[in-house]
Amino acid sequence: MTPRPSTRNKAESPVEIVVLDTAGEAERYAASEIRSFITARREPVLGLATGRTMLKVYDWLRQWHEAGELSFAACRSFNLDEYRGLSADDPSSFASYMRRSLFDHVDMPEANYHLPDPDAPESSLAAYDLAIEKSGGLGLQLLGIGRNGHIGFNEPGADRHSLTHVVALDPSTRAANAGDFPPGVDVPTHAATMGIATILGAERILLLATGAAKSEALARAMSGPVEADCPASYLQLHDHVTVVCDREAAALLQERS
Ligand code: F6R
Repeated sequence: MTPRPSTRNKAESPVEIVVLDTAGEAERYAASEIRSFITARREPVLGLATGRTMLKVYDWLRQWHEAGELSFAACRSFNLDEYRGLSADDPSSFASYMRRSLFDHVDMPEANYHLPDPDAPESSLAAYDLAIEKSGGLGLQLLGIGRNGHIGFNEPGADRHSLTHVVALDPSTRAANAGDFPPGVDVPTHAATMGIATILGAERILLLATGAAKSEALARAMSGPVEADCPASYLQLHDHVTVVCDREAAALLQERS
């Protein structure tokens, strides 16, 4: 049964916020939004995210594909980010994550999915933005949020006008992601990421946040000022953002009429 979300709209911002009781409901809701987008478009272009938050979303997409209800054959996708210095075969790379959680299980042709080349010289990373543009632009961009308010790997201080570029990862981000690496292996210090302008260039943005650890960042992003110190707050500048979250992540959002 589809849960009934509670939706709150802030009068001065077009961000739609959908609050569901549990993380499981929020993940399924986000997955079904992606599914609706894919089925509504002839050539869907997806911006994809990794991270623990997205694992169940990809599980749902996979299950619907396996049940014959959803095809990715016409999709193209562009991932947000990738660690610098990791080969695509490294199990901790986002390329491996995407193959394990989605790409190896669905019918999207390999040539259709893309991640930024993390080891390309900074000057050639703009090619990623060009490739997105040539594909017709991002139709739906999926986002998670870091505890420090990052989106993609745009850390506090991120430039609103940035395109795909190399970033130094915040120590708190490296600590948060240490569990994705084998014991004794350091989280890379740098990554390539879509920039804020790349993300804001998407037609529609879907941000999924679950768990109490995200409540502060989410409240700052949605209810605080638009500021570089909380990169997710730049989403307030976009006119079609949907935030899907569970009650725990929503706990500090101000009640809005
Ligand atoms: C991942 C990404 C990051 C994550 C964020 C949350 O591609 O761009 O912004 O969405 O770090 O990660 P989790 O979901 O692991 O808490």
